[in-house]
Amino acid sequence: MAAEKVGIAVIGCGIVGGSTAKLLVRDNELLKNKIGIDLNLKYIVDVNFSKAQKMGLDPALYETDLNKVLADPEIEICVELVGGTTMAKDITEKVLRAGKQVVTANKALLALHGTELMAIAREHGSAIAFEASCGGGIPIIRALCDGLSANRIDAFYGIVNGTCNYILTEMIQKGQTYADALAEAQKDGLAEADPTLDVSGGDSSHKLAIMSALAFGKHIDYNKIPVQGIDTLDLTDVKYGAELGYIVKLLAIAQRTDKGLNLRISPAFISKEHPLAWVSGPFNAVSVYGSNVGHTMYYGRGAGGFPTASAVVADIASAAMGITKIQFDKMGIWPDKTEAALQLPLEDYESKYYVRAMVKDEPGMLSKLSAILAEYNISIASALQKEPTAGSNSAVPIVITTYSTTEGNIRQALKSIEELEGISEKPVYIGIVDEHEEFSS
Ligand code: HSE
Repeated sequence: MAAEKVGIAVIGCGIVGGSTAKLLVRDNELLKNKIGIDLNLKYIVDVNFSKAQKMGLDPALYETDLNKVLADPEIEICVELVGGTTMAKDITEKVLRAGKQVVTANKALLALHGTELMAIAREHGSAIAFEASCGGGIPIIRALCDGLSANRIDAFYGIVNGTCNYILTEMIQKGQTYADALAEAQKDGLAEADPTLDVSGGDSSHKLAIMSALAFGKHIDYNKIPVQGIDTLDLTDVKYGAELGYIVKLLAIAQRTDKGLNLRISPAFISKEHPLAWVSGPFNAVSVYGSNVGHTMYYGRGAGGFPTASAVVADIASAAMGITKIQFDKMGIWPDKTEAALQLPLEDYESKYYVRAMVKDEPGMLSKLSAILAEYNISIASALQKEPTAGSNSAVPIVITTYSTTEGNIRQALKSIEELEGISEKPVYIGIVDEHEEFSS
């Protein structure tokens, strides 16, 4: 008996779109044997087919008229790989209103408009799948929605931007400055010509918003997530952190507390023994802590054509098999079905901290610093004064680590320290993230 056939349109033929189309055509037989359905790529929709041509994709698939695709009853699944939030939103709405299922890798679109799009999908008997939006080829969305469904998720910590992780790895391993490491990443095709969205933490925050909504079953206000990128990170602190046994990572942090959710993107020091410490180069990983399972960790390539297409095609397969629609209809975790999360202000976030202040090399400076920290009830775990660095105009670095305190306390204390006579530049602070306790609450 011939396998059931499901018509598919890939909209947007860049690296991920081209790889998705290629995978669907090249691995059609493999997929048919696995899922029992013929995933029939019928259209590649775009205005420019140079990537499709380069990848040897059949010109008979090329289509510039989206309306023709939407009117074709054989098309059941449209894959939105246009990117951005304007045209992509318009296309996604049109596809959903046509009653067809959407598969997308577009994290910005989902973080900003996911709730609205899901409501439209529900209204039109459709569904949205978005495995590729977070962690590229890593099946983290499936883990949060499905594999871990028997757990209350207590926390997760993610390295979810390959560009940033590559740059930080170069800084840590080769002692390169941020600017040099970025230039090398751009040369190696691991950073965009305009890397702002990645290095500012914006891309990670889109992924954090999506994952948090599913993990905690709450509607997340993306605009309330505090975001700090790696673009202001100084190699000096990377080196001093390493001396203390820490390595720096750009972390997507999500913690459930009695008061609400702590969500943030920021560079953080983790111990060299932390499970996320060995995630290097362009790789991604997410550590998830479930109430019954304890710690689980998901690792893999977070970007790139075929790794991302792997997740996109897994979603196409689930949509074709009817799994996506059943989950979308039945489960209560989708943002359009859930209440707003209580997102805690950054000031309330509790952590240990690394602090570096550049001080005039004269008696009493260390005691002035510790007096201010004491004033804000911040307890010092370690303190050391380093030799003056070249070009520092006789200022010397004092490096302090603290016991747990709030971000609000540390900020206020550093503001007072900055106002002290003999402080030559704005003090630096970086959170130190311990490994989350399993079965913590
Ligand atoms: N720019 C992203 C990264 C690609 O570097 O991880 C996938 O979102």
